[in-house]
Amino acid sequence: MAIILGIESSCDETSIAIIKDGELLSNVVATQIEMHQKYGGVMPELASRLHCENALPVLNEALEKAKITLDQVDAFAFTRGPGLIGALHIGMQVAKTLAILYKKPLIPVHHLAAHIYANEFVKPLKFPLLSIVVSGGNTEFVYMKEDMNFEIIGETKDDAIGECFDKVARTLGLPYPGGIPIDKLSKEGKHTYKLPVPLHDDSLNFSYSGLKTAVINLVNNEQARGNEIRVADLCKSFQDTAVGMVMDRLERALKRYDIKQVVLAGGVSANSYLREQMHNRLDGTNVDLIVPPIWCTTDNAAMIVRLAEHLWKMGVTCDSTVSCDPNWRIDKYKTF
Ligand code: KG4
Repeated sequence: MAIILGIESSCDETSIAIIKDGELLSNVVATQIEMHQKYGGVMPELASRLHCENALPVLNEALEKAKITLDQVDAFAFTRGPGLIGALHIGMQVAKTLAILYKKPLIPVHHLAAHIYANEFVKPLKFPLLSIVVSGGNTEFVYMKEDMNFEIIGETKDDAIGECFDKVARTLGLPYPGGIPIDKLSKEGKHTYKLPVPLHDDSLNFSYSGLKTAVINLVNNEQARGNEIRVADLCKSFQDTAVGMVMDRLERALKRYDIKQVVLAGGVSANSYLREQMHNRLDGTNVDLIVPPIWCTTDNAAMIVRLAEHLWKMGVTCDSTVSCDPNWRIDKYKTF
């Protein structure tokens, strides 16, 4: 029997959740998206300040909803990385303060591993599995031979896919976070713009900076010629190309690895075209697919406590001298 309280503050969501023996008692998320929208992306300094403002109200609400008091909590989990360093620090300091005050252990949680384990809210993970981690800061194929064993078998060499969606959206004058309007407009558009597919090698790696630059150059050139941009068509052409790269790597991974299940993780896993393509490819095959519910694709502490329960059972805790790591690699989970 354990009650775990978890804190997520790696980017622009302040979130606290409480779990008791697998049952999620509360998950409160305070999003900062509106505050960052006018800058066209997340302002790290502003994110940290807003985490400071939001932390205690979110904590109180999470406790109230769970009908739990702080002295009942057995361990305090927090996102140790990856993420924005200033933002991570706020959540970590809240967790450390509570752990010291209530003399309870701290559990360090890897943000991307938590996105993967969030899929357990849908159904159990089946190993060996391939996790497709697609977010604003990361694009990775993570192979898991077994529980809590992470191997990066492919990753982006430059920009993350979500970052690319955001920058393309900004170029087209669409609001942040750019993946959402691009996804929506793509439904009205046709794939009429020819865009380059970068990285012609045999690996499982990705490259998105060339695609981003190609869209920016195309828009600049068309504008210089006085031509109107067909925004929905460009969104569709871009989205097909960006998602196409993921599907191409998936095909290779399926040929090279023993894979029983594929799970999507991260903000870009909300993309409707990516979801559709994954179902088209895997439904009816002997490879199982988990697509996370939309609420789980954005940052939240429910996924932090979910993974923290595994870590608690494994005895993974840390003391209050721990530091956060903005570049923590998932394959270095066991060394911090
Ligand atoms: O990085 P991430 O997992 O979460 C945060 O740190 O908040 O997810 C944010 C990213 C952004 O780049 C956003 O544009 C992208 O996820 N995103 C999407 C969609 N919804 C969010 N990308 C494509 N299609 C979507 N529907």
